[in-house]
Order: sequence, then structure tokens, then C-alpha cells
Amino acid sequence: MLLELAGVSRWYHTRNQVIHVLNGIDLSIDTGEFVCLLGPSGCGKSTLLKIIAGIEPANRGKVLCRGRPIQGPGRDRAVVFQQPALFPWLNVWDNVAFGLKMQRVPRALRQRIVERYLELAGLSAARRLRTYELSGGMKQRVAIARVLATDPSVVLMDEPFGALDAFTKEQMQDLLRNVWRTTRKTVFFITHDVEEALFLATRVVVLSPRPAVILCDRTCPFSTHGDADGRVVRSSPEFIRMREEIIGLIRGAQAAPF
Ligand SMILES: Nc1ncnc2c1ncn2[C@@H]1O[C@H](COP(=O)(O)OP(=O)(O)O)[C@@H](O)[C@H]1O
Ligand SMILES: [Mg+2]
Repeated sequence: MLLELAGVSRWYHTRNQVIHVLNGIDLSIDTGEFVCLLGPSGCGKSTLLKIIAGIEPANRGKVLCRGRPIQGPGRDRAVVFQQPALFPWLNVWDNVAFGLKMQRVPRALRQRIVERYLELAGLSAARRLRTYELSGGMKQRVAIARVLATDPSVVLMDEPFGALDAFTKEQMQDLLRNVWRTTRKTVFFITHDVEEALFLATRVVVLSPRPAVILCDRTCPFSTHGDADGRVVRSSPEFIRMREEIIGLIRGAQAAPF
């Protein structure tokens, strides 16, 4: 098992109260899975990602990566946030090459790897551009290419397309789905967009409102078996049926008096 979370709880002490965020989360993720985490705003999705990233500790429970306790950030768990953090003094090529340089990957190999991920992310023509010359979608593509180039065990993505306009967002979803179909990287992806989750994931996990428990954990066929054309997938009856089911589940949980 690549990632193993068992009985993970997290709470915060504020000045006059304790906020219980995660309440005994059990979640195991295998190599090659694309797990989408859904849940209402403020339920603890980012908190869970930060625990896996090693940016925050769990107050209780077990958090393992390849059988070892996660005690801090590591190169094996790369994070892509909503706002891509690129180096503004470097062009696209050098941004993608940055992690490999840090890892002292030899120049010839580095060039091959950067070429591959620029191509996959549709950035080959943009290689010499500076980050301020890029649109929001292109910046996020650079961030994704940069992370994939270093070949982490798992890519952790926290609403990476949340700040993009609807059209760009759909393009990015198509792109990420194709990249995943090619690389089969393990991805842990947070979103509050049910369609996005179903379109990308091999597995969809839904959290309840705070204190969050797992409401449902389902395998999802559309990223692996679905048509290559995103438009076709999103409008298929099975897709719409599963979308409505999950939306119903989230609505029901929000209405419940916790
Ligand atoms: N450092 C912190 N101190 C106190 N409360 C926090 C802290 N970080 C997060 N929280 C609270 O934990 C809850 C879950 O936050 P978060 O994981 O960001 O939710 P989500 O990503 O699902 O929207 C929120 O109510 C938030 O206010
Ligand atoms: Mg969040």
C-alpha cells in the first residue's frame, strides 16, 4: 500500500474552543490510483492533504507512506496548490527543470525528462516564455509538469483548477486526464466539483461536514474506461446518474443536524 491512513483525527484549539475537523479517517491508497476527495467547504479536505504532505501532524491515528510514518514533507509527496507557485525569474523550461536540477539529475537525462513533460502538458511552444507571460491555465500546466518531472510517488493536488474560468477548467481536466492515462501516476486530488471528480478519478471519496468522516468511497470507471473525448463522457447517462447520486449524498449530509 502506498498511503495508509488509519483512525486519523485532527482538531484545532482556538482561543475559546476546540474545532474538531477530522474524525477517525481510514483511507488506503494504492499505486496508480487517482483519488478525488469531495466534501463541503470547511470540512477538512485541505487539512487531510496537509497531513499526507507532512505539512501538518495528525492529533491521533496512523499516517504511513510505503509503510513508514510520515513525519514531515518529502520529495515522494509533491503538492500542487490552487495558486501555482512558479519562479518568476525563470522561464517555463527552467521552471520544469528546477526540481531535477536540485536532485542533480545529469543534464542529458534532465533535458529528455523536461521535453517529455512539456510535451505532455502542451507547453512545448511556450518553453521560452516567462511566467508573467502565461495565462492562469498555462501557469497551472507548468506547475503540474514541474511536479511530474521529479517523479514523486504521489501528486497531491488541492483544488488546482479552482481559480480558473469554466472553459479553461474543462481544458485542464481533459489535459490532466490524458496525462494520467499516459503516466498512471498516483494522484490525490481535492475538489468540490462533483463532475470534475467523476471525470478524473478512479475512486471518489466523499467527506461529511465537520467533524468529517468518510461518507462514501467508490470506484469510478470514467477515467479509465470512458471515451477519450471529455464531452462524450460528461454527457453519458451513467456519468449523469452517478453525479446526481453523489450530489444527493452531499446535500443529505449537509442537511443533517451534526
Ligand atoms: N490552523 C488552523 N487553526 C484553526 N482552525 C483551522 C486551522 N486550519 C484549518 N482550520 C479549520 O479547519 C476546518 C477545515 O479546514 P480545511 O481543511 O481548510 O477545509 P476544506 O479544505 O475542506 O475547505 C475549517 O473550519 C478551518 O477553519
Ligand atoms: Mg481546502
